[in-house]
Amino acid sequence: MTTEKKAVPRHVAIVMDGNGRWAKKRFLPRFFGHKQGVDALVKIVQACIDREIEYLTVFAFSSENWKRPSDEVSGLMGLVLAAVSRYLARMGAMGVRIRIVGDREAVSDKLRNAWNEAESSTAHNSKLTLSVAFNYGGRWDVVQACKAAMQAGVPPAELTEARLSEFMAMNYAPDPDLFIRTGGEVRISNFLLWQVAYTEFVFSDCLWPEFGEAQLDAAIESFRERDRRFGGVKEAPALAGV
Ligand code: IPE
Ligand code: IPE
Ligand code: MG
Repeated sequence: MTTEKKAVPRHVAIVMDGNGRWAKKRFLPRFFGHKQGVDALVKIVQACIDREIEYLTVFAFSSENWKRPSDEVSGLMGLVLAAVSRYLARMGAMGVRIRIVGDREAVSDKLRNAWNEAESSTAHNSKLTLSVAFNYGGRWDVVQACKAAMQAGVPPAELTEARLSEFMAMNYAPDPDLFIRTGGEVRISNFLLWQVAYTEFVFSDCLWPEFGEAQLDAAIESFRERDRRFGGVKEAPALAGV
């Protein structure tokens, strides 16, 4: 029992929210919040490695984030390109395997190429799998998985939950154990809908650029206090009257 409670979550998923408000508080353009957000991510990647977390999945750009002003969208695209060229070698040296999840059709060739390079150059790493959800939506994922299953000729009678999971974008990872959302909002915003069926949720008021090791440890501590029953019962109930 005690050993189980001390367990480190194997897979942590984070909605990195609050960059814009972090910048606004400092009278800076929103872009600076996103820039600071990249640095926060690099620190959290190292913190996850130190804690022997195997999978870290972060929400970087949602299917709905295209609704933002075009200068913010293009600023984000440029920032991602800059982040790949600045941090890819370091991530590789840290033993990070990078995976990108999301619809790559709508992004520029330049960004698609950068994603491909990030994935192929780190494919052999095994310390931590960092999945970056970009142009990702949980609903998009379910629909693309159904389409892929149909294209693969899976007959409807054989379409089980396990079979459909094989077509989901994160079929290489176990479901998240711990979901963290920073920035104070208490919602999923179309992140990993299918995969969080039994994930433990932690919502933090901390804005993403300020999220560090202390906040990560607090979230892990909260996770450890949870009683994960997965729909079952923890202890067999005493048989009344027997
Ligand atoms: C999250 O921060 C980053 C992205 C969605 C790209 P926001 O930009 O949503 O920051 P707030 O929520 O406006 O503070
Ligand atoms: C969710 O944050 C998406 C990312 C962090 C990438 P949003 O800021 O887009 O979510 P809403 O609009 O507050 O629901
Ligand atoms: Mg937000």
